[in-house]
Amino acid sequence: MRPKIAAGNWKMNGTAASLAELHSLATGLPENPPQVVICPPSTLLFRATDATHGSPIQIGAQDCHTEGAGAYTGDISATMVADSGATHVILGHSERRDAHRETDADVQAKTCAAWAAGLTAIVCIGESEAERDADQTLDVIGGQLDGSLPDAVDAENTVIAYEPIWAIGTGKVPSIAQIKEVHDFIRTRLIDRFGAEIGNALPLLYGGSVKAANAVEIFAVENVDGALVGGASLKAEDFAPIVAALA
Ligand code: G3H
Repeated sequence: MRPKIAAGNWKMNGTAASLAELHSLATGLPENPPQVVICPPSTLLFRATDATHGSPIQIGAQDCHTEGAGAYTGDISATMVADSGATHVILGHSERRDAHRETDADVQAKTCAAWAAGLTAIVCIGESEAERDADQTLDVIGGQLDGSLPDAVDAENTVIAYEPIWAIGTGKVPSIAQIKEVHDFIRTRLIDRFGAEIGNALPLLYGGSVKAANAVEIFAVENVDGALVGGASLKAEDFAPIVAALA
């Protein structure tokens, strides 16, 4: 039985005032909530773990370096993320693959660093619109999975997030059939590489324009175990119904 996970990626949004959203979210959680992970900007990690102390909400970072410490101006290490009390880290988000030129090999090395610090890696993969139009979606997804995941993957240390790039922040959502096709493909690929026990146990999230209005339909898809949500995770009033749809 895989966990249901509602993960929120605040991206480069949020100041100290935004911590009030965590309080609102925590007080409004349903009785048997899914796993809830909020990933604020790194400036808020320590305060976010304080703000959610005593609630089931977990905190994650949006990236980490491959090294534990060193002369890497502007970066944060997985050790630092764990030191904040965070439990998760998003790795290989398409915005980092694009704007920061992160490769599958980078994502794999960061995943190992995250594990070494005791963090759960939320590893993101997804095709561009041009790749989908060229009928390359499954090839791209397969390649990213193969290249981004280290061999020592297990269900405790890794979550996979499928995020078609063209659906991120656009309001465009793949059809249910398209989501199912990719998630089924990922599941099979994971089973082929890691065996049935681990492959079946790894949680698979969908991300890209998830909101309250489409969450129930998306969560009904087999092999969708939750969502990685951007814009609709910023306000508790928008994220709470998505969390509730997984409860
Ligand atoms: O990490 C989250 C995704 O990029 C989805 O963002 O929900 O704003 O489309 P979005």
